[in-house]
Amino acid sequence: MKIGIVIHTNTGHTLKFAQAIRDKLTAKGHEVDITGLRTQGVISSGIIPIVRTNFSIKNPPDLGEFDAVLIGGPVWAFKASPVIMRYLVEDVRTLKGKKALAFVTMGGGGGDRALRMINEELEASAADVVEGEKLKYFFKFKAGALEAAVERVCEKLGA
Ligand SMILES: Cc1cc2nc3c(=O)[nH]c(=O)nc-3n(C[C@H](O)[C@H](O)[C@H](O)COP(=O)(O)O)c2cc1C
Repeated sequence: MKIGIVIHTNTGHTLKFAQAIRDKLTAKGHEVDITGLRTQGVISSGIIPIVRTNFSIKNPPDLGEFDAVLIGGPVWAFKASPVIMRYLVEDVRTLKGKKALAFVTMGGGGGDRALRMINEELEASAADVVEGEKLKYFFKFKAGALEAAVERVCEKLGA
């Protein structure tokens, strides 16, 4: 399969998760491409609501060429990353016929809500959405947690 991974990462945790997924899928013979969304402007963290969100995404990838797409980002203020949500709402057109899986990293809570938010947008784009994955990063990933999550991602994709 040709698989596109699109992430937003601020401190690199989601990138580590994405790279581990890519390495496993590549070892299984799939072709994988990771795009980290780059932004310009002020992104509200959601924690201080008074901060206005006024940013644009500089490199929104077109997902047309992929058989499956993975969308990943951090949980911010118990919600999905605003960068990921903006990308899905404004830049992603139809995902009909493509498998889609969301993944998030977080310090503590809000992962289920964040996954739901991303999945709703993926469904609105007509993707064949499979169950997402959330992974805690508290100073580090727990021993074995990253590998187990990567394994589940591959299973859910049928890869
Ligand atoms: C602005 C901000 C808000 C956050 N809000 C939450 C939260 O609500 N729940 C949570 O579990 N972690 C929260 N975190 C922690 C991040 O989700 C976590 O560190 C994540 O792994 C960061 O991913 P990244 O390194 O890819 O940016 C927050 C971090 C930041 C910077």
